[in-house]
Amino acid sequence: MKGSAHMRMTVIGTGYLGATHAACMAELGHEVIGVDVDEAKIASLRDGEVPFFEPGLPEVLECNLDNGRLSFSTSYGDAAAFAHVHFLAVGTPQKRGSFAADLSYVRQVITSLVPLLEGEHIIFGKSTVPVGTAAELQELADSLSHPGTSVEIAWNPEFLREGYAVKDTITPDRIVVGIREGSTADEVAREVYATAIEGGTPFLVTDLATSELVKVSANAFLATKISFINAVAEICEATGADVVQLADAIGHDDRIGRKFLGAGLGFGGGCLPKDIRAFMARAGELGTDQALTFLREVDSINMRRRDRMVQLAREVCGGSLLGKRVTVLGAAFKPNSDDVRDSPALSVAGSLSLQGAAVSVYDPQAMDNARKVFPTLGYVDSVQEALEDADVVVLATEWQEFRDLDPVASAALVAQPVILDGRNVLDVQAWKDAGWTIHALGRNV
Ligand code: UGA
Repeated sequence: MKGSAHMRMTVIGTGYLGATHAACMAELGHEVIGVDVDEAKIASLRDGEVPFFEPGLPEVLECNLDNGRLSFSTSYGDAAAFAHVHFLAVGTPQKRGSFAADLSYVRQVITSLVPLLEGEHIIFGKSTVPVGTAAELQELADSLSHPGTSVEIAWNPEFLREGYAVKDTITPDRIVVGIREGSTADEVAREVYATAIEGGTPFLVTDLATSELVKVSANAFLATKISFINAVAEICEATGADVVQLADAIGHDDRIGRKFLGAGLGFGGGCLPKDIRAFMARAGELGTDQALTFLREVDSINMRRRDRMVQLAREVCGGSLLGKRVTVLGAAFKPNSDDVRDSPALSVAGSLSLQGAAVSVYDPQAMDNARKVFPTLGYVDSVQEALEDADVVVLATEWQEFRDLDPVASAALVAQPVILDGRNVLDVQAWKDAGWTIHALGRNV
């Protein structure tokens, strides 16, 4: 796969977003250096090892290391000397004790890189940032650049999903580029993304503020859609209605659509939760907090699903979890990922354990990450081992391996055939037929 114009570029920050972007840009035919201050991360990427689980990425990484289009460095000097186009892809986590985003890593890149640049450079920000950040970084860059050197800040938000990161980067739904008045950075972006544009991907040029807002608005909308169906799930639970049938029925209306109406344990991960909070915090700073107070509800509805799951587990255990053996299937925040940041599955596992249950957790990919954040839970090496002697089983992340479980064989392993489907993916009738008592969020099954 080759873009029509081959360019040189750097990608600064080689976490989830940056490592994927760097490898995929090389895959499109560009020459790319990925830069990070984390030496261990760079060493691992140089060896062709992706430090997280992402289907398809190891192959793309290895192939482009071998063909020489992709390399990695810990030196900003290397980045400054290599290219005139730079992508900024460092993290913007939630600040401790606040809803706001921590912009220190983003600012640090500008402070480290800009004084080393000579000539004309463009920095495309990819990180998710509060509206106004790009303009602020432009001022910072102007104050740090050498006389005669120009550094243009443009914003090119990233919409990739974990688990589909390679596909989403090579063939995105849309490309958005925010530029300041008079800038021609969009023309450079057109060259970078020539392959996708030729393939018909919509290319939208906006001002800086709009491009920053596009990203957070998209994530806020997705979070709202999930919490909408989960709020309706609460009503279904109170009335005997079935949220899955309801979602199917409203989803047929193509103005609504069935995607992201999956009722269950709700959203987690490194993006949706922190992004809606940072959006609210920014609205507050702008004096427009009323506009986004509904996101507080979106957040609360989402958190209540975790409580409901723990309550359900307590109920099926006869009112107390003390001494009960509970199996939690899944630790990652969603399938096809080893990411446990703000994971609903791990949050439920933790609460069950704190209420006195002996919890056994199994996840096909996220065990190591889960152990780091929740070392006190019990971890086992296989789903069969996890099921052994369980008093209740909680399906918390909908990995295919769990969807494919055989209810008959599973029933033979547990102490009590009771399962709680936190993601609404099991065939209820098949599990009932195998002798299981099954409960699901938002359904009276
Ligand atoms: C999300 C967005 O989908 C991406 O477009 C965006 O680029 C990315 O954040 C980001 O900001 O970097 P991601 O965090 O990978 O991507 O995860 P999603 O696939 O959006 O899922 C988020 C959470 O919602 C998961 O915990 C998932 O289990 C949950 N979910 C999703 C539901 O509970 N119900 C659904 O119907 C769909």
